[in-house]
Amino acid sequence: MTDTMIYTNNLTKSFGENLAVDRLSLSIPAGEVFGLLGPNGAGKTTTIRMLAALIAPTGGEARVAGFQIGQQDREVRKAVGILTENPGMYNQLSAERNLSFFAKLYEVADIPGQVERYLRMLGLWDRRHEAVGTFSKGMRQKLAIARALLHEPRVLYLDEPTSGLDPEASRIVRDFIAELRHEGRTIIICTHNLNEADRLCDRVAVFRSELLALDTPTNLRRQIFGRRVVFHLAEVTPALLDAVRAYGFVQQAEVLEDKLVVTLDDPEAQNPLLVTALVGAGAQVRFVGELRRSLEDVYLHLVNPQKEAN
Ligand SMILES: Nc1ncnc2c1ncn2[C@@H]1O[C@H](COP(=O)(O)OP(=O)(O)OP(=O)(O)O)[C@@H](O)[C@H]1O
Ligand SMILES: [Mg+2]
Repeated sequence: MTDTMIYTNNLTKSFGENLAVDRLSLSIPAGEVFGLLGPNGAGKTTTIRMLAALIAPTGGEARVAGFQIGQQDREVRKAVGILTENPGMYNQLSAERNLSFFAKLYEVADIPGQVERYLRMLGLWDRRHEAVGTFSKGMRQKLAIARALLHEPRVLYLDEPTSGLDPEASRIVRDFIAELRHEGRTIIICTHNLNEADRLCDRVAVFRSELLALDTPTNLRRQIFGRRVVFHLAEVTPALLDAVRAYGFVQQAEVLEDKLVVTLDDPEAQNPLLVTALVGAGAQVRFVGELRRSLEDVYLHLVNPQKEAN
């Protein structure tokens, strides 16, 4: 069994009448990259601010890296790094001075060493003497990520790490997150970029004040949409459709141009039978693939089920 790095039980935060986070229960193992998805105002930032011991919950409990939120907040803050939506930096100071300043706050032992390490890792070493106020948005974002890592936290919260970045800068940040994961850090990412969540996250939670769903992107797809296999055929005839429908395990079969789209629960086991049946009935099977729904489809289904087109 893996260690649980982040645990919450009925974690709640209300701002007056406004219930921002409603009884959130989560268990995140060490080393997992976990995506927190949800519409604007869903309570994502509020959740990670509670888990970073920056604001106090109004109900429930949480433990991060073994420390109790509300009772061991100093220890929690040492164990976590956070990239906030608006990371405040000193614009007049150079990149290097900014990081050194924050490293001192975090009581980092080897300040010059850590500052150099992260400036190099994020490709900012050559620009280290320049004032942060002159940096581009992407450079500032990278610097903010560096800042979150100076004290080598085991847990990292990234609030919209690639928002507003160009494709190349996003790619650098994404690759960097993947690297951090290889180092065994536990990471929570809040993002509206569902493609990114799909690529980076082991599991995702779709959240709107309360949990709507939580699982791996693959399992969410399958639970919601089933598994659809596409048989590309030279020609689809009614006889071929009948041949496929003869199998009890075929939940649905439809024709889409020269393709036969079949919904199955266990394609790995059932595809070979269907291919054999199709060939026996005279089909030329050109290609077999799985119709993959995007995480965006899953998200929209969960957040707004009634508005869905299909
Ligand atoms: N300091 C605060 N005082 C009062 N209300 C707050 C405060 N912080 C957040 N809220 C409210 O809590 C709710 C959740 O906000 P939060 O910032 O956590 O959402 P979010 O999921 O991060 O949204 P976004 O995707 O827009 O970043 C909102 O209704 C917001 O107005
Ligand atoms: Mg937010």
